[in-house]
Amino acid sequence: MKKFIQSLPKVELHLHIEGTLEPELMFELAQRNNITIPFNSSTEVKEAYNFHNLQSFLDIYFQGANVLVHEQDFFDLTWAYLLHCKDDNVVHTEVFFDPQAHTERGICFATVVNGIHKALAKGRTELGISSRLIMCFLRHLDEQSAFKTLEQAQAHKDKIIAVGLDSTEIGHPASKFERVFKQAINQGFLTVAHAGEEGPVSNIHDAMNLLQITRIDHGVRCSEDQALIKQLAAERIPLTVCPLSNIKLKVFDFMKEHNIVDLLRKGLCVTINSDDPAYFGGYMTDNFLAVSNAHSMNKAEIAQFTLNAIEASFISECEKKRLKIMTQKYLDLHQ
Ligand code: ADE
Ligand code: ZN
Repeated sequence: MKKFIQSLPKVELHLHIEGTLEPELMFELAQRNNITIPFNSSTEVKEAYNFHNLQSFLDIYFQGANVLVHEQDFFDLTWAYLLHCKDDNVVHTEVFFDPQAHTERGICFATVVNGIHKALAKGRTELGISSRLIMCFLRHLDEQSAFKTLEQAQAHKDKIIAVGLDSTEIGHPASKFERVFKQAINQGFLTVAHAGEEGPVSNIHDAMNLLQITRIDHGVRCSEDQALIKQLAAERIPLTVCPLSNIKLKVFDFMKEHNIVDLLRKGLCVTINSDDPAYFGGYMTDNFLAVSNAHSMNKAEIAQFTLNAIEASFISECEKKRLKIMTQKYLDLHQ
């Protein structure tokens, strides 16, 4: 099964580029940019990655992002992630970035987006990995800051397919972003939002009703609402689930208790993703393996996660068809 999972074509839909900053690159960039970080070694950094909830992680995540200053830094970060994609047979990825985590520190929006975009373009030509870029608003910041960020994105609309919503879920309701999402939709952006990760199931309803999202990031707390489960299954509203992240941030105590396989078998369009792999102990293959080790699944069920991700992705119908055929062929060959 390990070999089957390793070589299975994969599609990633929930990946924060800032969450791919490995300790080694963090040190290299800190040195390059003359920035002090409160760690002496990679081991010390990894020891600090002991999270008890989402906020305890976010504090470390934003601190890490401070070493990213120049366009080249964002390029190097993204390129390093794409090399992991290649190793894991990720054929398509939809990448989040948090512009406000950088513009709030005085970094230009263009520096961030151009660095990421250039690496993604190189990933397409040199590694054969297709991609899309999604700009997230930080929900702990105010509406005005989100509007300013949307304004900054206008000059880069050709590089950004959708807007999203991330950071602290509890205490920062989706309603705060209803108007900015409406404007983004009017401007042609697709929309996604983190909801029901550690916040209540009502946050999922709010994301669907107030933000008109096309897929839900996390959404695992949908299990608390049977009517919602039925609706998600019937309408095939995708959930981008992040198994290792959920364990690291104590959304579930053990992988055996994770509801992802149960949701898959109920007919929901659930997908497997890595969220912030440098912080949570693994990229795509590691996430697939963690789920498969804790839950007994057959190969068709495992491949269904890829088929769901293709269905939920923001690529053209023609490209979806090509990836579906590729995945089905792989499954047929390895049954
Ligand atoms: N930003 C990066 N990772 C996140 C997560 N898992 N939840 C909310 N915001 C995030
Ligand atoms: Zn996330």
